[in-house]
Amino acid sequence: MLFHRRFEHRYPRIVRGSGAWLYDDEGNTFLDAVGGAGVAILGHGLEELARQAAESMRHVSYLHGTQFTTPELEAYGERLVALAPDNISHVLLMGSGSDAVETALKLAYQFHLGKSGTGRKREVIATEPGYHGATGLALAVTGKARDRLLFSGLLREQHFIPAPDVYRRPEQSGEACADALERKILEVGPENCLAFIVEPVIGASMGVSVPPTGYLQRVRDICDRYDVTLIFDEVMCGFGRCGTWFASEASGVQADIIVQGKGMAAGLLPLSAVYASRAIVEQLHRDGVNFAHGFTFTNHPFSAAVGARVLDVIERDDLLENVQRQGHELRGRLRELTAFPWVDDVRGLGLFCGFELVADKHTRRAFPRTARLAEQVLQRAMRRGGNFYFSIGYLPDGSGDSILVMPPYNVTTPELNAMVTVLRDTLAELDPDVRALARQSA
Ligand SMILES: Cc1ncc(COP(=O)(O)O)c(C=O)c1O
Repeated sequence: MLFHRRFEHRYPRIVRGSGAWLYDDEGNTFLDAVGGAGVAILGHGLEELARQAAESMRHVSYLHGTQFTTPELEAYGERLVALAPDNISHVLLMGSGSDAVETALKLAYQFHLGKSGTGRKREVIATEPGYHGATGLALAVTGKARDRLLFSGLLREQHFIPAPDVYRRPEQSGEACADALERKILEVGPENCLAFIVEPVIGASMGVSVPPTGYLQRVRDICDRYDVTLIFDEVMCGFGRCGTWFASEASGVQADIIVQGKGMAAGLLPLSAVYASRAIVEQLHRDGVNFAHGFTFTNHPFSAAVGARVLDVIERDDLLENVQRQGHELRGRLRELTAFPWVDDVRGLGLFCGFELVADKHTRRAFPRTARLAEQVLQRAMRRGGNFYFSIGYLPDGSGDSILVMPPYNVTTPELNAMVTVLRDTLAELDPDVRALARQSA
């Protein structure tokens, strides 16, 4: 029997997809407004792409990354690096966001090990909230205490600072949050501090949160001052989701290491990437060492083949422009939903959008988590044939509900309208009960 994450849940059995639509084996139709978790970036039923990619499967089954390479792998690497900020010189292909984060942290560690000759720099700072993955190192730096708690016996404790929250703590500027980083580095000891890992736009752990202007630059300056490696986790916000190849592009700030994942292969197979700066690669080279890390499927030729076809489609169909245009349109339509007294703060960049569900817009008080409001919205929306995503429990008292909308990059206006209609109908259905809940919880 297949091991599902939710034992009691009855999952719709999808047999076919086309664009933003999914069809199950009972004749039901679902509008996929999130591509799973921002993964199916070109929608479903990718006939042309699947055909082209399958062509590469005919030639070679598998090559180990320590034994061979292929022209297609090399060309894909060149192409990704050409799209990256100009301090980036190399890219390594992985399978998931978690293993890309593990890789980034090990790369930073080996870099500092070579540079200082000691393994003293081993403490990592991350933001709370923040999400970086489910494996050992990635979970240890995930700023969701509840996620870490169950496995705390297996993890080494790392360090957290508050993430900027423009909605609830507008008075605490990006500068104040960056100052918290500096204080934390001094507390931990700069000589012990390996890296700061941060999502340039925080995703699933905070309902899409765009930091204030200047935050990332200040973070960069502080990392430079104390020789701390800056890692941008763009697994969710990157690779075009915000309307640019890298979410950090708009800030002009360059990280030492960047990780991407999710939709790099449009969901056809697992693919993620770790981009390393020239300075990091040159240090390893100078030390005459190899990078002491890799998985069986690192730099898989077929991943590169599919990844290259995905880049072709995005470039040929000018999809980043569509992401920007439709993202603007979508946020406009979602703002109409703030007519409900418990929907607030529509936010995001490109097609990375979210909004808050709050008991009181004036005080920005959240609903009690026991009401499981975000879950209710998702369940009811699913019954109406819409698939959305949520963020929960990101406030210090464990409350916090927000809904995420992350359509495919080629989403059409009718599809966007249909997504907003499902949401509006769902919110209207819940409205009387939620108003009563807001009054009760006052
Ligand atoms: C920002 C971020 N980093 C890392 C990960 C982990 O990626 P994966 O689930 O592919 O391991 C995620 C997954 O949602 C993510 O959003």
